[in-house]
Amino acid sequence: MKTIRIAVIGAGVWGDTHAAIYREHPLVEPVAVCDKNAQKAQALAEKYGLSRVYSSVDDLLADGDFEAVSIVTPDFLHADIAVRCAEAGKHMLIEKPLATSREDVFRIVEAVKKAGVRAMVDLHNRWSPPFTEAKRLIEEGELGSLRNAYFRLNDIRWVATDMLPWAASSSILWFLGSHSFDTLQWLFGDRVTRVYAVSSRGILDSLGVETEDTFLSTLEFANGGIAQMENGWITPDANPCVNDIKCTLTGDRGMVAIDASNHNLIQFFSHEKVTVPDILVRNQIHGRVKGFAYESIRSFVDKLALDEPFTVSLEDAASTSLAILAIMESARTRMPVEVDYGPLG
Ligand SMILES: NC(=O)c1ccc[n+]([C@@H]2O[C@H](COP(=O)([O-])OP(=O)(O)OC[C@H]3O[C@@H](n4cnc5c(N)ncnc54)[C@H](O)[C@@H]3O)[C@@H](O)[C@H]2O)c1
Repeated sequence: MKTIRIAVIGAGVWGDTHAAIYREHPLVEPVAVCDKNAQKAQALAEKYGLSRVYSSVDDLLADGDFEAVSIVTPDFLHADIAVRCAEAGKHMLIEKPLATSREDVFRIVEAVKKAGVRAMVDLHNRWSPPFTEAKRLIEEGELGSLRNAYFRLNDIRWVATDMLPWAASSSILWFLGSHSFDTLQWLFGDRVTRVYAVSSRGILDSLGVETEDTFLSTLEFANGGIAQMENGWITPDANPCVNDIKCTLTGDRGMVAIDASNHNLIQFFSHEKVTVPDILVRNQIHGRVKGFAYESIRSFVDKLALDEPFTVSLEDAASTSLAILAIMESARTRMPVEVDYGPLG
């Protein structure tokens, strides 16, 4: 099978994740990296043996000698790059969220359609083992009709204060809420029609990161299911995991309860604290990358090579961004908001 030549745009924390699996994938030839910070681009190129290094997307696209790109720039900087890559005929794996404004969502969807390229958004919780198992149980009817769900997906506050230099220009809803919303719409197999949300802020503001601390969002699905999402960036830094992930899914025949962070398959004790090492998301076994954060990227390549539909459709990623905009509006107005999917229907 022919290899796919891929360029990575954005050489930060998560660009490294994309480059790591591309280096291993037998169907990929990772060829180029682009970051507006030339030093970061150079460092990633050296780490993964990429020969072509660019500090502007224009220069990368002028080179053009590749079939696909990973877009791994900050949340609010996906749209212009995605539209230009689509116009240049490149297939795309876009980091979540697809985009952070209604206009940008539809600009990308239109550009992809017009150019006839393929695009997937890296909503990778669909590859997380406890959630894929929950999906199997739901599909096999073990839960009966899914009636309600609770999904907590929080980060320790270090992610907002130290890890992401751009946290104040984004929101925990874009950063993690996009995962929880997409997971719920996938598990329910249904569209969310109405949302009602509240938010609070103050802790991150006081630490110099001007964004909301936490959101509680209620979702109503078209077929009567209901769900509650909790997304916060203020879990204390001493939490044993970077993420705090809890989920219950209740149907009329059964219930699934997930604790994907404090699973206690392994604990590490130092003299200062106890941690639960990551063995699910991004880990290595004998020098090879494992974990569901790599599986979603691997799947993008496999589906592209086999010309099969992606596990996350562009429509689902678009509806996730549109619903999060509705959640933000609801939190602002303290009123329920109908989600307007526009031409997506
Ligand atoms: N799937 C996941 O769970 C997951 C986890 C972490 C991050 N992400 C996503 O990945 C994306 C990047 O996050 P990150 O943590 O790597 O951020 P980061 O700040 O570490 O890296 C972003 C990089 O993009 C570069 N950049 C900014 N504008 C650019 C431009 N116009 N052209 C080229 N490069 C540009 C920056 O210089 C920086 O190096 C975000 O959308 C984030 O939500 C996803």
